[in-house]
Formats: sequence, C-alpha cells, structure tokens
Amino acid sequence: MTHTHKTQVCIIGSGPSGLLLAQLLAQARIDTIILDRRDRVYIEGRIRAGVLEQGSVKALEEAGVADRLHAEGLVHDGFDLAFDGNRHRIDLSGLTGTSVIVYGQTEVTKDLFDARVAQEQVFFFNVEDVVPTDLKSDTPSVRFRQNGEEHVISCDYVAGCDGFRGVSRAAIPSDVLKTFERVYPFGWLGVLVEKPPVADELIYANNSRGFALASMRSETRSRHYIQCDLDDDVSDWPDDRFWEEFATRLGPDTAAHLQTGPSFEKSIAPLRSFVAEPMRYGNLFLAGDAAHIVPPTGAKGLNLAVADIRMLSRALIAHYTSGNDDYLDTYSETVLKRVWKVERFSWQLSTLMHQFPENSPFEKRMQRAEFDYIASSEAASKAIAENYVGLPLE
Ligand code: APR
Ligand code: PHB
Repeated sequence: MTHTHKTQVCIIGSGPSGLLLAQLLAQARIDTIILDRRDRVYIEGRIRAGVLEQGSVKALEEAGVADRLHAEGLVHDGFDLAFDGNRHRIDLSGLTGTSVIVYGQTEVTKDLFDARVAQEQVFFFNVEDVVPTDLKSDTPSVRFRQNGEEHVISCDYVAGCDGFRGVSRAAIPSDVLKTFERVYPFGWLGVLVEKPPVADELIYANNSRGFALASMRSETRSRHYIQCDLDDDVSDWPDDRFWEEFATRLGPDTAAHLQTGPSFEKSIAPLRSFVAEPMRYGNLFLAGDAAHIVPPTGAKGLNLAVADIRMLSRALIAHYTSGNDDYLDTYSETVLKRVWKVERFSWQLSTLMHQFPENSPFEKRMQRAEFDYIASSEAASKAIAENYVGLPLE
C-alpha cells in the first residue's frame, strides 16, 4: 500500500533553506510538506557558522522567527584581518552604514523548527529513497519510504533544499546540469569552548603556520578555528595542541587575551567552492547548499541560502497570489548572478587568508601586499566590507 499526500510545494530538506522557505510560504498561506532523511535532534546538532547579514535578519523577521535573534544575537560593527600579528579593523558600519549579527546557525534552525511545530505543519523525518519525479510536467511528485512504507506526494513545485549531498541536484539530467568546483588543499578544525571570546569582534588571522579565526557564540562561549591538513583527524588535535597552535597563529599580543579550556565540540570540515547551474529544472527549484557551496571564510553559507529562499519564496508567492510567473521564470538567472559574486568574495578572502602549500615565495608576497593594500586603502577596505555585510539581492 502506498500512502498518498498532496501539497502545493514539496520541500526536500529541513535545514535552514527548507525551514525558512516553509515558514515564508506559510505566512502567505501556501501549503508545504517538508521531508528530511534525518530528524530534528540530528539537524539541530550540526554545528555551523554564525554571522548573519542584515538581509538574512530581515528575512527571519518576515518569517516571524527573529525575537530570540534580536534578544541574544551580538551586533558587530567590524572585524579584524591580521597578518603575522599585524591587525587591521574592517569598519563595517563606518564603511557601509550597516553591521552584521553574530548568532549561530544552530539557533536559527531551532527558531525555525519551533515555528513550524507551533503551526502543526507536516514533516516527514528519517525518510529514505527520496525520488523527485515528473519534474517537467505540471504534476510533479516526490516518492519516498518511511519506516518501510511507501509514500508519494503530489505537488505543484518541488524545492530542492537538501544540501550538497542531496538528491535534488542529481535529478537534473547530466546533459542539462553544469557544475563548477574548487576544492581547497586544507580543512578547518573548529572547537566550541565555554570561555569568553578573545576580543569583542572576530579576528581572521593569516600566520606563516596557517589560518586562524577567533569567533564566538555569546559573551561566554567561543568558536575558534585553525587551518589544518586535509588528512588530519580530530584525534590528532588534543586540546593542548590546539590551544598552543591557535595562540601561535594569533600572535602574542592577541593571544594574551585568549582564555583556554576544555572544548565540548571539535570537528574538521573541508573547504570547497561549488556552483551548479541551472537552479531550476521544470518545476524543481534548487536553493542553498543543494546548488552552491562556499568556503566558510566569508561566513556566506547560511546567508547565501537565505538569499536564495527570499527570491524563491517571492516567486512562489507571486505565482499563487497573482498568477504572475515572471519571478519563477527568472529565478535561476537572477539568483546565480549574485551567487557567483558571493563565490568570488569567499574565494578571494580564502585565497588571501590561508597558507597554500603550492604557493611560491612570490605568491606569499602577493598575499602580504594584498593585506597591506587593504589596510592602507579605504576603497579596498570598503570592498571587503560591502561584501561582508551582504550584497544587494538583485
Ligand atoms: N532526502 C531528504 N533530506 C535530505 C536528503 C535526502 N535525500 N539529503 C539531504 N537531506 C537533508 C539533510 O539531512 C539536511 O537536513 O537536507 C538538509 C540540507 O540542509 P543543509 O545541508 O544545512 O543545507 P541548507 O538548508 O541549504 O543550509 C545551508 O547549512 O550546511 C550549512 O554551510 C551550510 O550554512 C549553510 C547552510
Ligand atoms: C563562526 O562563528 O562559526 C564563523 C564566523 C565567521 C566565519 C566562519 C565561521 O567566517
């Protein structure tokens, strides 16, 4: 027996992209069903970045889930770039008139989950063998199994919000889909520690031994990263070794303010730049990590996903409320224009701030020259600042 369901938009993936899309559509009384191969506890347990552009804050306000963000988020008016101990502050508010808010993605996801549950909206967790079908027809559907039982959802549209390793992008035929990728020759080792941040704002440091980032989750909880080898394992980095390396890369003046302690989360993530085109195939629309990946250096992963969802929700709402399909028809082209600009910024900052094993002495001097130029030019600092606070949606 196959269980049958019907909805207007079937959302594959219950990360920030899928949850925010569902919430914005719910505000417009558009019906959705969300599927995820994991469950809420697992999804909320994934530790991700934590810097929100004002555009992302606006979207969360429109979704009605920004109360805790405004109560607990930390408004940051700048951040530091450091090169071998020399620090230069990028004055975000002075250069762009706006700021960012430090608030963990985990918290954004929790706020979105709470809203969906409060509205008693439909979820299917721990699903298997999800197969989007008939995407080029007016009656697409999504088949899946849950607890050994077959299900099929009939819908008008499928939103592929299932991340980098999902099934939605794979549903686009290989003779249609084009992908672009840069895999970086290093990873990021991240720790969470219940200790106050090193400084009031984030510090991105390029030291001859490698990159380090001093970040935070609150005034009592810090999130720190160091560049590590791709074949490193978390077990290679006991806390003592991590703190010693982290302090070395920050430099003595900054490290003097570092408070170390036992980490309660430690993980290694690879870095990649990735874009898939197009982001639409028939009545399938890709959004977030399903369509693109950025190295975390520019803190753009979540913000890019939110920007996609702002455009996709606008398009779907225009379709259902006024029969206007112009935004649906231009979604992929419009969103990809901005995706590529954000990919460029994330690639540029990653190239500037990391030690690349293959870099020649000349390329290392180019990194230093780029830093010195940014530190001495308001125009160069403003270029960094306007990308960091978030480019216009279109
Ligand atoms: N079927 C159902 N669900 C799936 C499938 C599948 N075949 N494959 C993946 N998923 C689910 C995952 O379990 C995950 O919960 O899709 C969700 C995708 O969530 P994310 O990977 O978080 O992607 P997205 O919502 O676009 O958010 C992007 O999350 O990973 C970070 O750095 C990234 O900050 C960025 C943000
Ligand atoms: C984080 O706090 O996890 C973080 C902040 C900024 C980044 C990446 C990660 O660029």
